[in-house]
Amino acid sequence: MRSKNQADIDTIIKRAYERFMACVSSGNAYSGNTENCLNEILQSISAINVDTASSLGQRVSTLKSLINQRILVKSKRGETEEGSADYSQQFAELGARFIEKPTRKFSDLKGMEEIKRNLMATVVYPFVYKELSKEFGMSLNGGVLLYGPPGNGKTLLAEAIAGEAGLSFIELNPAYLYNEYFGKYEKNIADLFRLTRQTSPNLLFLDEVESLIPRRETSDQSAIKRGVTQLLIEINRLMMENTDGTVIVAATNLPWEIDPAMLRPGRFDQKIYVPLPSSDERKEIITDQLSKGYYFKDIDSNIIANMTEGFSFADLIYLFKRATQQAFFESVEKGTKEHVRMGDILNQIGTIRRVYSSDLIRKYELFNGQ
Ligand SMILES: Nc1ncnc2c1ncn2[C@@H]1O[C@H](COP(=O)(O)OP(=O)(O)OP(=O)(O)O)[C@@H](O)[C@H]1O
Ligand SMILES: [Mg+2]
Repeated sequence: MRSKNQADIDTIIKRAYERFMACVSSGNAYSGNTENCLNEILQSISAINVDTASSLGQRVSTLKSLINQRILVKSKRGETEEGSADYSQQFAELGARFIEKPTRKFSDLKGMEEIKRNLMATVVYPFVYKELSKEFGMSLNGGVLLYGPPGNGKTLLAEAIAGEAGLSFIELNPAYLYNEYFGKYEKNIADLFRLTRQTSPNLLFLDEVESLIPRRETSDQSAIKRGVTQLLIEINRLMMENTDGTVIVAATNLPWEIDPAMLRPGRFDQKIYVPLPSSDERKEIITDQLSKGYYFKDIDSNIIANMTEGFSFADLIYLFKRATQQAFFESVEKGTKEHVRMGDILNQIGTIRRVYSSDLIRKYELFNGQ
């Protein structure tokens, strides 16, 4: 292995830091994503074997502390758009992310044509064409539940609905809202819905809703049970009083673990299954990935699409990232520019484990018919 000199290390660290900063300023660096960005970048550094280990270690710590400082500054400041900083901060205290003007659009998502058309017609258009939708007697009935295996765009879809309809986006992370002290959880819930009403028109996204509104009979914590009851009351109230101000979108990987009261008619009438990508959709995202990398050579997207049944959209993106990282690593080692070839991708396919059994997929497919 070629040893790295100080200048190489400096360049690697500098690039890693720049990548992290780009991630922060693109608004991606929030809660779980910040950690992902950080881990990915640190992994890419530690993948580089250097003789001057102590020096690299020192530099990695410097990078970490720079990054941590940046995260602290960011979270203290909230999103700094004029006028929204205060709300961002208030939502952040309740474990929610507030984006005043989301820019995500349906066109950012590959495939999913039917789902996108359906959401456009039933959620986006009634907001954008308010008068016309009133003339047609159309109103948004209740909320939307997106369910399906992880990594197939539920969160992206929720953000894109907000972007298309010109709504602010509020994403709730249930773990932060929860508080075991008597009355505190209820207060957090009340505060969240009060802020939601104050900042409408908006979209309230309840992610991992099965942990927010679990079946009451399976929970032995009274705070959770009281929380479920109060959440259902607040959701009802929001739907009745604020009919053209807030859209509620919930998402889950485990729809059968949600309290049945949430799924009663009039609450989340639209239940949309967001499945694993079909072969055509896999081909679409593979072609998109190929168009983004400079160093792909002789790669047959049909073969890869055929070999990746059971992969999620996120798995497919990860597959290309892994193969590219490998080529980058070899390029650094050999001091050349190595292409990513078909064999590299095929090697990586074997390392990505498909966790979805056909039984689980059937369970999803049957859920809405219940
Ligand atoms: N239709 C799509 N087009 C392009 N990229 C996609 C698509 N769906 C998912 N992705 C990629 O997968 C990543 C994960 O998507 P997302 O977070 O929306 O999945 P999810 O269904 O909400 O997963 P989870 O259930 O784990 O929350 C995205 O950041 C994006 O890179
Ligand atoms: Mg998600």
